[in-house]
Amino acid sequence: MKILLIGAAVAATVTAFETPAWLYPAPSTERRPPAADPEATVTLPGSRVTLKERDLRTPERAVDWFPDPAQPVPAFIRENAQPGQYACGFCHLPHGDGRPENASLAGLPEEYIIDQTEAFRSGARTAARAGWFPSTAMRTTIQHASADDVATAARWFSRQPFTSRVKVVESATVPPTAPLGFILAAQPGPREPIAGRIIEVPDDPHAFEKRDPRATFTAWVPPGSIAKGRAIAAELGCIECHAEQMNGWGPGRSPSYILRQLLAFKSRARADDGAEPMQAVADQLDFDQMVAVAAWMADGAKAKP
Ligand code: HEC
Ligand code: HEC
Repeated sequence: MKILLIGAAVAATVTAFETPAWLYPAPSTERRPPAADPEATVTLPGSRVTLKERDLRTPERAVDWFPDPAQPVPAFIRENAQPGQYACGFCHLPHGDGRPENASLAGLPEEYIIDQTEAFRSGARTAARAGWFPSTAMRTTIQHASADDVATAARWFSRQPFTSRVKVVESATVPPTAPLGFILAAQPGPREPIAGRIIEVPDDPHAFEKRDPRATFTAWVPPGSIAKGRAIAAELGCIECHAEQMNGWGPGRSPSYILRQLLAFKSRARADDGAEPMQAVADQLDFDQMVAVAAWMADGAKAKP
């Protein structure tokens, strides 16, 4: 299998199963930004909620900028009563909009959500890149959740409407990037070659950091990716098999997430009972083809241009 490893602007071909570092960003331990005053007031345009800086960094509690009294977020998703344990809504956001480093859950089938949480719990599902923090934290969280809590979460997230928040743009060049938490963010400086990558960045890093569920993203993909992905999808029957909505297909979801999943199926990091059909699909794709398919899916998985 051919994979482009991007380091020091050098692309190398490797044979073993490898995952590119740019797809699994992690904050630098050397360049920590100065800690903000935990008591500082934080607001968001369009929201009536006022928070403190520390609310953005309290894993036990989800940040809910748009509470709807007619449809209250279940307590377990809002707040984890076990000290030190994350609330589902902290990472996935209260309505399941998700972020590129985790997964959108809004509108996924209830049964699929339960199956996948079970797969994380048992270890049958992990990330293709061992030890990547967001995935290991997902696993730890689910090990502390009861079956009732998971059932509540699955019912809630499956009933939330999904809105795509990513714009896919084909381009031979991209802005330079650096990790912002567990995603990439654009940096000032001359553009660099895309070199076979998907570079997904928040349009407004501040909105992202405030866990704004309406934050939008741009995903730069190599020129020609969408059409190439569409052709591969037609050949492998993605739409036909996924037509029954039996799993987390989801056109318009984060392409970084989709690409990580294709790698997880191929590497067998996703080896739960239901994974076999997708392992067979992923086995037929090399890395560049996965990039193309992820670009096509994130762009809406349109059957025609
Ligand atoms: C620390 C952040 C974090 C928390 C808290 C968290 N998750 Fe996750 N979740 C993730 C990440 C990251 C992934 C993707 C992991 C991967 O693919 O390796 C994920 C994936 C999932 C998926 C799979 C989605 C799909 O399309 O296959 C489900 C379902 C899920 N989480 C449900 C939950 C539920 C329910 C809770 C609360 C009990 C929860 N998560 C709490 C980070 C988190
Ligand atoms: C033979 C049926 C079949 C075909 C063909 C198929 N899939 Fe899947 N796909 C599945 C099943 C089943 C799952 C759920 C896997 C699981 O439960 O672990 C899945 C899961 C996925 C996921 C993970 C979703 C998530 O929420 O994490 C992605 C992404 C995906 N498929 C994309 C594709 C693409 C792209 C193609 C075509 C190149 C494709 N699938 C073709 C059956 C299929």
